[in-house]
Amino acid sequence: MPKQILKFPKDFLWGSSVSSYQVEGGNVICDWSEKFPAKTACNYYLNYEHFFDLAKELNQNVHRFSLSWARIQPAEGKFDRKAIEHYRKMLLALKERDIKSMVTIWHWTLPLWMSEKGGWENSKFADYFQQYTKFVVEELDDLVDFWMTTNEPMIYTSLSYILGKFPPQKNNLFLAPKVINNFVKTHKKAYECIHDINKNAKVGVAQNLSFGEPFNNKSILNRSVAKTFNFFRNSLFLELTKNHQDFLGINYYFHDRIKITPFSFPFAKIKNDDKEVSDLNWEIYPKGIYHVLNNLKKYNLPIYITENGLADEKDQKREKFIKQHLRYIHKAIKNGADVRGYMHWSLIDNFEWRDGYGPRFGLVEMNYKDMSTKIRPSALEYAKICKTGVLEN
Ligand code: FCB
Repeated sequence: MPKQILKFPKDFLWGSSVSSYQVEGGNVICDWSEKFPAKTACNYYLNYEHFFDLAKELNQNVHRFSLSWARIQPAEGKFDRKAIEHYRKMLLALKERDIKSMVTIWHWTLPLWMSEKGGWENSKFADYFQQYTKFVVEELDDLVDFWMTTNEPMIYTSLSYILGKFPPQKNNLFLAPKVINNFVKTHKKAYECIHDINKNAKVGVAQNLSFGEPFNNKSILNRSVAKTFNFFRNSLFLELTKNHQDFLGINYYFHDRIKITPFSFPFAKIKNDDKEVSDLNWEIYPKGIYHVLNNLKKYNLPIYITENGLADEKDQKREKFIKQHLRYIHKAIKNGADVRGYMHWSLIDNFEWRDGYGPRFGLVEMNYKDMSTKIRPSALEYAKICKTGVLEN
């Protein structure tokens, strides 16, 4: 096949993402730290300049990171000036390097006081979150390019309240509507609060959207089951908040094939063909991102890919993974999707929640023994694309 030269739009943003608990370290105390301590992690809290230098060296011009609520508000009504000053310094360090910032206000961990009050089940959660949001936005907004209120509300709800995997580890499907409703309320309130402070702010949510398709396209039953799955998994939160989003933040990892089996209700995910998988056994399905993006055109909002990546310790699949996803993103842009940036997950290897330090998602390898870092070969390939905005395929 002849080589294709795919050019991305002129001001397209290129970068990578991290989140506070997964990289910062410093033994922060929060609802995760007792059962799933991240300990020193990547020492990013103290060493952020080194990581920003790496991002710069790799030609990245946007960086997504999150704030630690537990550091900023260690007790109800008590805000820590040192912590907020620290985040200001980080934002200034990005500015010095000409790297835009995308700041997630909440990426999955709660201060202990908030989780003791019932966390996302508390009917006043949106009010607590608004106080925290108001504080951080008043302190940081002049240095922030994009705000994201929360990360993956639907994934968090299912892992924390239905599947019992993440704190508070509940297995109760009936709690899900309450938690989802709280996410919607919380996001809307925070969105308004940010706009009250800066009417030009750009505010979104990072949503994990999968490409869900019927296991058998010919079966009407199967198609309607897949539609129901897609509604709850991919559309519900978006539909409920679409008038409170200035851009859509999309995390894409999964392809789901859906059907009903005698043992499942209302639907079952059928194991994919797994032609290619990551070290975590997640199927690699780049074409899915094209379908996801196509389905978002109707919202008429700018789209940023805020996460996309794989665990690949040997770095054998990452280059191809990135290039293939970018090829499909480019195709979606050609087809009318207003995609304006791509942030790979992740800049560095980090603490992958319950899977700990095993999975290696980084463009940069982290040696947790001596805390040294090493740029992976795939990162250099991605850096060429970041520099030119051109993908040669
Ligand atoms: C996403 C999370 C992110 C990271 C990646 C692998 O769902 O937002 O923190 O764990 O998965």
